[in-house]
Amino acid sequence: MTIAYRIDQIDYPFPAKPAVLSDVRKAELKDKIKVLLKEKNATMVAHYYTDPEIQALAEETGGCVADSLEMARFGRDAAEQTLLVAGVKFMGETAKILSPEKRVFMPTMEATCSLDLGCPIEEFSAFCDAHPDHTVVVYANTSAAVKARADWVVTSSIALEIVEHLDSLGKPIIWGPDRHLGSYIAKKTGAEMLMWQGECIVHDEFSSQALQDMKALYPEAAVLVHPESPASVVEMADAVGSTSQLIQAAQDMPNQTFIVATDKGIFYKMQQLMPEKQFVEAPTAGNGATCKSCAHCPWMAMNGLEAIYQSLTTVDTSAHEIFVDDALREQALIPLNRMLDFSAQLKAKKSA
Ligand code: 13P
Ligand code: SF4
Repeated sequence: MTIAYRIDQIDYPFPAKPAVLSDVRKAELKDKIKVLLKEKNATMVAHYYTDPEIQALAEETGGCVADSLEMARFGRDAAEQTLLVAGVKFMGETAKILSPEKRVFMPTMEATCSLDLGCPIEEFSAFCDAHPDHTVVVYANTSAAVKARADWVVTSSIALEIVEHLDSLGKPIIWGPDRHLGSYIAKKTGAEMLMWQGECIVHDEFSSQALQDMKALYPEAAVLVHPESPASVVEMADAVGSTSQLIQAAQDMPNQTFIVATDKGIFYKMQQLMPEKQFVEAPTAGNGATCKSCAHCPWMAMNGLEAIYQSLTTVDTSAHEIFVDDALREQALIPLNRMLDFSAQLKAKKSA
């Protein structure tokens, strides 16, 4: 049985796109940022959805480019005492929850996520209170307060295994906030899940009808789909998974061409690892439809070079530094650590 639950339709406050920089200005900013990172004993932790030049900068400076789970791990284990998180706010908060002794900066605090916006703590908490016998599992794309209300935090690369585990214990689950990822996991595991009805505005736009048309143009291509996409798109996939799992799938599969249904930021890593293969963006809208994100998260796009430079030089750090209330942090750490411990055990089992 699935009970739908959602807050009123949200008018997402899409941010303005960062100004386009000249090559000279880009090179100047990159050089300055490299020096500043060293001076401040800081490392960059970037997501695969940030712009290619941001991912390249993280790599060139010894930082990491990864999925949400690996970003959390890397930030926690980094020797540097300052983390510059290029991603969206929940990623910065997760880093701070895991490493309260480190200073965590973000290019802009306004880089949010439709899943986080669509899951306010008061409403979500009331939903949980109404079903006290359920285990609360929340996606990492949530506020620190929502994490603190949860029993488990998951990312898309470990959600399936964690829900399988909870289901094997006979536990009914409250799942929030991504309804598409939740439905995919419920279908795969058969677990009893009550769904919060949130969505990622980027993945929600992929269209199965338009994808069908595109497949006709590339008959040899394999289709890679992130499970935040609608079920009709997931059903057409040759591989479904988190960002890192999709990159791995493209490496493992013999196909030369891939249609990719996730944020186009991922093409940087795919092309870097597989220069001989061809990657094509999955269509985000059918004929005549409007495209809100055009397969690139407007909040991830806010992580520009100017904003990074600002975050490392500003005297008033309040617009860039992440703080999480102590009591909330301690509570949110419990479900986050459950995920990280579960993931470490799973890794150990696989390599045994
Ligand atoms: P993953 O990188 O964990 O797959 O997360 C996708 C996402 O939407 C992050 O915002
Ligand atoms: Fe959130 Fe989607 Fe953007 Fe990821 S891509 S940060 S899930 S809106």
